[in-house]
Amino acid sequence: MEFFGSVLAIETSCDETSAALLNGSHVRTNVVASQIAMHKKWGGIVPEAAARAHVEAILPVIEEALEGCVPDALAVTNRPGLIGALSVGVTTAKALSLAWDVPLIGVHHLEGHLLSPLARLTGQEPASLEFPHLALIASGGHTELVHVQEIGHYRLLGQTIDDAAGEAFDKGARLLGFGYPGGRAIQEHGAEGDPHRYKLPIASTKSPYDLSFSGLKTAFLRLVEKEGTTINMADAAASLQHAIVSALVDRCRRALESTGLTTLALVGGVAANQSLRTTLERECHRNGVQFVTPPFELCTDNAAMIGVAGSLRLARGERDDLSMECWANRALPGQID
Ligand code: KG4
Ligand code: ZN
Repeated sequence: MEFFGSVLAIETSCDETSAALLNGSHVRTNVVASQIAMHKKWGGIVPEAAARAHVEAILPVIEEALEGCVPDALAVTNRPGLIGALSVGVTTAKALSLAWDVPLIGVHHLEGHLLSPLARLTGQEPASLEFPHLALIASGGHTELVHVQEIGHYRLLGQTIDDAAGEAFDKGARLLGFGYPGGRAIQEHGAEGDPHRYKLPIASTKSPYDLSFSGLKTAFLRLVEKEGTTINMADAAASLQHAIVSALVDRCRRALESTGLTTLALVGGVAANQSLRTTLERECHRNGVQFVTPPFELCTDNAAMIGVAGSLRLARGERDDLSMECWANRALPGQID
């Protein structure tokens, strides 16, 4: 697998301002400035506020990541995401590419998540991620099962037809008064809870690989309303987590069975969930499937994963120029569905 020399990567698609410096797949620095504290006040992301916060954070974050170096190239998330937020990263990357006279590449945020297991943190062995493989991207904005044939060649097998898995965690957490974002809070509050105390539905979908979380959200709302102050918070959190994890594991199982793929990569913010990681790992182990997932800090949004995807594309001779645009919605590059 061929990587480009040193790459400065920038990620501003949502609520983290991040910059990373990579040498090949080696992540030398990965700085993440989170806007979570600000968005917490409103219980979710306010796009205009996110863009402003990126403007304030971007230069100090880049300066910290660079440690005085001038990289050989720039990689920046240019799709999909909040358009105002994306523009901050893309405009900054263009200015730096012009000033340093180095090449520039725009990266699809989900390709970054998909290739995140290839990023090598200091002191870590490079991940052995085989191609082709099955990937589950589970984040705050996306829940997709992807047949990764090779780098840049993606086949979408299934996806959520309504809410993303991370949204299901976040909305459940809000109902329990845990604030935003809720995935981690659900995990922590549910750690000692009984996952079978409250029965929650796992929706079936027309396509065997699609997912649906809106029925679960409604059922959880009814449960919270019905139980009122008598609700056991730990049991409710554990039951919600169990329902989301079961749905994700079920679709992975079906997709592995029907494709015959022997590697599963779990990526995206929800991949930080301990219950999902251990359940999928156990399931894979039982079926002789290799299980790969990045370290926690590379699950939630970060620039290192954008650097890895960008570096691989740059090494293939791909380039963007100063006319590069950014898009709120865009399919994965090379996607066949
Ligand atoms: O990938 P990410 O940082 O941003 C998007 O691209 O959406 O994912 C953020 C999502 C949030 O919904 C958050 O609640 C969820 O990942 N998340 C978790 C955990 N840590 C983050 N969900 C469940 N358990 C966790 N430990
Ligand atoms: Zn993401």
